[in-house]
Amino acid sequence: MTSTAPQTTPLASEAADAAPWWRQASVYQVYPRSFVDTDGDGIGDIPGITARAEYLEQLGIDAVWLSPFYPSALADGGYDVADYRDVDPRLGTLADFDRMLEQLHARGIRVVVDIVPNHSSDQHAWFQEALAGGRGSAARDRYIFREGSGPDGSLPPTDWVSVFGGSAWQRVDDGQWYFHNFAVEQPDLNWAHPEVRTDFVRTLRFWSDRGVDGFRIDVAHMLTKDLTEPLPSQAELDAMPRDGQHPLIDRDDVHEVYAEWRAVFDDYEPPRTAVAEAWVDRARVPRYASQESLGQAFNFDLLQADFDAGQFRTIVADNLTLAAESGSSSTWVLSNHDVVRHATRYGLPNPPRMADGQPAIKHGLEWVLAGGPEGDLDRVLGVRRARAATLFMLGLPGSAYLYQGEELGLHEVAEIPDAQRQDPTFFRSPGVDAGRDGCRVPLPWTAEGGSYGFGDGGAHLPQPAWFADHAASVQEGAGGSTLSLYREALELRRALQTEERLEWIETGRADVLEFRRPNGWRVITNFGTEPHRIDDAEVLLSSEPLVRGMIPGAATAWLAPSAD
Ligand code: GLC
Repeated sequence: MTSTAPQTTPLASEAADAAPWWRQASVYQVYPRSFVDTDGDGIGDIPGITARAEYLEQLGIDAVWLSPFYPSALADGGYDVADYRDVDPRLGTLADFDRMLEQLHARGIRVVVDIVPNHSSDQHAWFQEALAGGRGSAARDRYIFREGSGPDGSLPPTDWVSVFGGSAWQRVDDGQWYFHNFAVEQPDLNWAHPEVRTDFVRTLRFWSDRGVDGFRIDVAHMLTKDLTEPLPSQAELDAMPRDGQHPLIDRDDVHEVYAEWRAVFDDYEPPRTAVAEAWVDRARVPRYASQESLGQAFNFDLLQADFDAGQFRTIVADNLTLAAESGSSSTWVLSNHDVVRHATRYGLPNPPRMADGQPAIKHGLEWVLAGGPEGDLDRVLGVRRARAATLFMLGLPGSAYLYQGEELGLHEVAEIPDAQRQDPTFFRSPGVDAGRDGCRVPLPWTAEGGSYGFGDGGAHLPQPAWFADHAASVQEGAGGSTLSLYREALELRRALQTEERLEWIETGRADVLEFRRPNGWRVITNFGTEPHRIDDAEVLLSSEPLVRGMIPGAATAWLAPSAD
């Protein structure tokens, strides 16, 4: 076996345990409205997270990231925030939040909350003030209001299309229009306004003072805008380079905002952390991940890849290089609240590649849109590959972000009647996009009982009958269950964690990847179908039972450091 040159990040010489906690954390994303419902209103709540503190501890994660739990009219699953410094009454109170924080901290679990700075809800006091204040009022300046086009201003100011489909402008009663990158109910804030900047600093301090450990920054690449007239057309926008000067996306000046935030984060001990959700050209990710900016950025490459050795290797290599450039650690994600669950993606035929070799970002959504035809999905293979990919990811240097329910091997729920769908991406592009509800269905905790143990008052999205087989109670302590695999893997990962680098080991097979961490911990993933022979090192964990000392197809094994 020959090895290639090690990939090194600047921290490589430091011992893993001397590094800040977030660099190689495993972070579990909780979508609070779908986790546990303690008051029987069909919506998960903050006391529900507290009630499962032991489950989270046993899972072995280092931190939870909470998707928004703020007051919201739920036009976009809570990403339409009506008050950034409170808890939605349906989810509890600030006192409930403090209790949850205390309970999680007591179990050594850190808490990261979601900040949504690009837009507020149209229910936010500021927007209501802007509506009431009328044309030309100071309150309208906190948002992006413009006169319409056409002889009587009855057409939108531009032909810009929102990310969720349809026009990006909405007319108000007095005839002016406001800009919304996402849903109509999510007016974009004006980041050129000093009060907007001050208010978010206040919000960051509000949660930091309560003891929150870090922040996940929603659409971090869109806040600042250059809206100098005349405004370009959508076609012109599309043709503009994304080089930091684009009027709407990934502008260099957004980092002035984050430099200010950095000063706030560093004002606390330990410094508060942040991770950017920034859908930008790969070469521009390090700006967000640098220690002068947010400090870490999501890398969504794995969640757009097929279960394919070549793609996985390139992605890992590229992202470790990028991490080295920013001085941050890399992040890895297979599933979150915005994409089809990875068990399902891997059980469907591979998506057609775009002409330039890029993956189709929305893999699996066409299957959901078609109502989830059973014949197209290999459920067993999907979960098997998902387990293998997760074990591969958990062996990588850097932070691993997990999404609630993946530890139960859940598939995407396709069988949601249109009338019960909630996601604006479905309503704004009917017949084209089924939306993201299928990964947000309340979790099954028990095989029987109301809402499979989610709560006594039903579930706000319908749970399919097959959820019973995946219930946490069924998998508890069951050897070979996906829940057991996650627990063992996360526990072992802590014990094995080492310096932030890896060395590839050539396996002689294009469909088998092997890498070694500095302490000798080895990870081997067989992406193919033929079993792969391994040496006689001790196998610490494998996603499937080994067959006569060989790793079967679609499986990962972790090997112990050798004694020498
Ligand atoms: C982010 C969130 C997504 C939300 C959007 C608008 O992409 O992850 O769920 O819809 O921002 O806030």
